Amino acid sequence: MSRYKTVRYLRVFIFSLTICVLGAHDAHPEQNAAPAQPSAGQAGTVPVPAAPASVTVEPAAVAQAAESNAAQVYSTAQATGEARPPAGETLEQMKERIGFDKVWPGEVPAHAFAGVAKCAICHKGEKQGAQYRIWMESAHSRAFETLGTPAAKALAERLGIADPQASGKCLRCHSTAYYFGEQKVTEDIPVEEGISCETCHGPGKGYMTLKVMKDRPMAVQAGLIIPDEQTCRKCHNDTAPNVKEFDFKESWEKIKHPLPGSAEGDGP
Ligand code: HEC
Ligand code: HEC
Ligand code: HEC
Ligand code: HEC
Repeated sequence: MSRYKTVRYLRVFIFSLTICVLGAHDAHPEQNAAPAQPSAGQAGTVPVPAAPASVTVEPAAVAQAAESNAAQVYSTAQATGEARPPAGETLEQMKERIGFDKVWPGEVPAHAFAGVAKCAICHKGEKQGAQYRIWMESAHSRAFETLGTPAAKALAERLGIADPQASGKCLRCHSTAYYFGEQKVTEDIPVEEGISCETCHGPGKGYMTLKVMKDRPMAVQAGLIIPDEQTCRKCHNDTAPNVKEFDFKESWEKIKHPLPGSAEGDGP
């Protein structure tokens, strides 16, 4: 058995043991549907705003649009490393840069979303690497809230958007439920989750059982994505109105969330 495999088996064993010790509650994620609410003192304690009116989704139309646009959209939307938004950018220039008049189709999720509360059941323990806490403390968990700030509203107003928390033009990069597109693609998770695990790792309903999770090929087949720099650049690119220089290594350091036993800096 390779060293890598041994480490993985050990991890699975420790996880399983912890889950057993924690009791039946943890062994049945589907029965534990309580939404993950930030606890006092943690980032993101702001009261969760009411969900904006949902948008009717036409899966077929979304799929068709996605096919024709998505590949080209991502490939032309690479950040180039200069400071931006460029000083003195006019409204017209900004609209051009962010592709304001385009319809951003997003991706068609191949599986159902589970919600961050489900992932947290197994990924919150400090001994398992506290992926949930690390995410809660990261900007991504606040991405929806940010759209409610005066800065967001001022920017939206400039673009003629009445409410950024209800606009696909903003939510495509600020909420998992929009999954990189202008239309909400799921009613299974609240937009308030912001950018949660499933934005980067793929919708999790199919892979989140212990049996599947501990077998990477099986998990990948069930929808697990092992993300890399390209995943980040779907949002950290020039089409973000507030885009900043994106240094992948530096940014990854700020949000990395390794499993115990992973090599130092293990990541993409
Ligand atoms: C029932 C418990 C459980 C749930 C629920 C769960 N996981 Fe896991 N997850 C695990 C275990 C155990 C491992 C470690 C597997 C290993 O070491 O091979 C793991 C590993 C992972 C990995 C690393 C996989 C790899 O091959 O490197 C990712 C990514 C992950 N989980 C994401 C998620 C996401 C996202 C969710 C929610 C949609 C989730 N998990 C829900 C138990 C769970
Ligand atoms: C293409 C993806 C994308 C779109 C579309 C997008 N954003 Fe963002 N937004 C980002 C990213 C990435 C950041 C983080 C930038 C950073 O810190 O590097 C961000 C950050 C922000 C911030 C915080 C800025 C700061 O300096 O702290 C605000 C406010 C914001 N966005 C508002 C909006 C509004 C309003 C819209 C819709 C008009 C919108 N965004 C659309 C990707 C996007
Ligand atoms: C779905 C769109 C999206 C994806 C994918 C995404 N981000 Fe972000 N990211 C954002 C938004 C939006 C913000 C700003 C959130 C806020 O301030 O409320 C942000 C903020 C951040 C920040 C905080 C800004 C700072 O400089 O401190 C870091 C770090 C970061 N992202 C790293 C990453 C990395 C690394 C990846 C890929 C592994 C990634 N992001 C993938 C949208 C995304
Ligand atoms: C902004 C994107 C992003 C978000 C959000 C995110 N992850 Fe990850 N995650 C990554 C990347 C990138 C990797 C590294 C993949 C690799 O090792 O190649 C990773 C790795 C992992 C691993 C494996 C770590 C290891 O040491 O092998 C686990 C487990 C995991 N994530 C769970 C989660 C959980 C649970 C959440 C939500 C609480 C989450 N992730 C949120 C991007 C993300």
